[in-house]
Amino acid sequence: MPTSRSSPSTGSPLFLLPALEALAGAVLLVDPQQRVTAATPEAEERLGPTTVRPGTPLAEALSVSEGARGLEALLSHGRQVEARSRTPGAVRIMRVRAVPVEQGAKRLGWVVLLGAEAETEGTRGDAEETFHGMWTRNPGMKRLFRIVEKVARTESSVLVRGESGTGKELVANALHAISARRKGPFRAINCAALPPSLLESELFGHVRGAFTGAVRDSPGHFRLADGGTLFLDEVGEIPLELQGKLLRVLETRSVIPVGGRSPVPVNVRIVAATHRPLRREVEAGRFRADLMYRLRVVPLFLPSLRERREDILPLARRFLDELEQNGPRCVERFSPGARHLLESHGWPGNVRELRNVMEYAYVIGEGPVLHEADLPPEFSEPRPLAATVVSEPIPAEDTHDPEALRTALARAGGNRTEAARMLGISRVTLWRRLRDVGIA
Ligand SMILES: Nc1ncnc2c1ncn2[C@@H]1O[C@H](COP(=O)(O)OP(=O)(O)O)[C@@H](O)[C@H]1O
Ligand SMILES: [Mg+2]
Repeated sequence: MPTSRSSPSTGSPLFLLPALEALAGAVLLVDPQQRVTAATPEAEERLGPTTVRPGTPLAEALSVSEGARGLEALLSHGRQVEARSRTPGAVRIMRVRAVPVEQGAKRLGWVVLLGAEAETEGTRGDAEETFHGMWTRNPGMKRLFRIVEKVARTESSVLVRGESGTGKELVANALHAISARRKGPFRAINCAALPPSLLESELFGHVRGAFTGAVRDSPGHFRLADGGTLFLDEVGEIPLELQGKLLRVLETRSVIPVGGRSPVPVNVRIVAATHRPLRREVEAGRFRADLMYRLRVVPLFLPSLRERREDILPLARRFLDELEQNGPRCVERFSPGARHLLESHGWPGNVRELRNVMEYAYVIGEGPVLHEADLPPEFSEPRPLAATVVSEPIPAEDTHDPEALRTALARAGGNRTEAARMLGISRVTLWRRLRDVGIA
């Protein structure tokens, strides 16, 4: 394709780039000598600006599988091939197609379309898996699923720890659904949502007249879950005085309703969840150690979304697919800016937050591209995390201290580039130090 930037009269196609970007996203224009003549901003974003500089051989801008054979299949036979970017660090793998551009018998070049991204290096080979409504590509999550399958066959108490929105309740549901109790009831109670007095009667039931308003007997969650599974969400928030009663119920396998005398036998499997490490609650004197050991026979830990960033974009895509089932809009792709913001966000609300953000963007935006401006306001505001750090720099000598590394990572919402910036060290140095102290 003609390369002249200066004279569109010679037929330079550069003015077509915005249209190509709008229609097809990441596009390269390639001349008959198989050199890049132009790239849309999205292609530049994916492949790196230096690799798509005009004049670069296509084979250098892109690493096509099977090398020269692959390139020939792509350009001469019009076949779709797999290629990877040559960007150091985050290598991207994508499907590539080429359309020849001819004028009469004269070959002017090709329009090369960089299609949907497959996996990025490092996650390659990590197939996706859906497990009882939980989707992932993260090896840690998949290991967790295997443990869930094993413990589901037992009666052991399970304690699920993870931040809000990481899927604790989904795990509890899965445990029940696979277990021998699956035909029995599944009951969930959020221990943080109720004042202590109410929580007690919700858990253990009450007899008529036990307190003002107790006009009839109430069975409580333990008895309602008889023969099934009881999910105690936010178990760390149970007040101390109730913890003793709960422990007694677990040990005697019977409940005494509020205002009642005789214990009622119950057959319940307990799955508890907490967003706080219970051990720390025990150390702080807020949680009974004996109850912790009783609940935490099998501890399961759900990683936060920022610890499995490879899941962010595919999950976002899946939530969009769901929205498109009932919605008017069809989103074909994310703009590079939107993709970057989604991938670097701290996600304090984890997968639940991601789902809500996608719903917001789906409703607010228009057309086939999801743009960064479609994301909720917190994505365009300067990050408060970074602002805090400017006023509280982390002393350089502390950067070897695991605590300082953890603090920086936490403040950066898990974003290592950001954490390195805060510590005033390079990303590679950060990585090395994390590895040295056993965090990486
Ligand atoms: N791995 C996952 N795949 C798909 N959706 C998920 C996943 N994890 C969480 N979600 C979504 O996030 C929501 C919140 O999950 P939930 O189990 O209630 O989290 P938690 O109990 O930890 O706050 C779920 O309803 C589901 O829509
Ligand atoms: Mg929950």
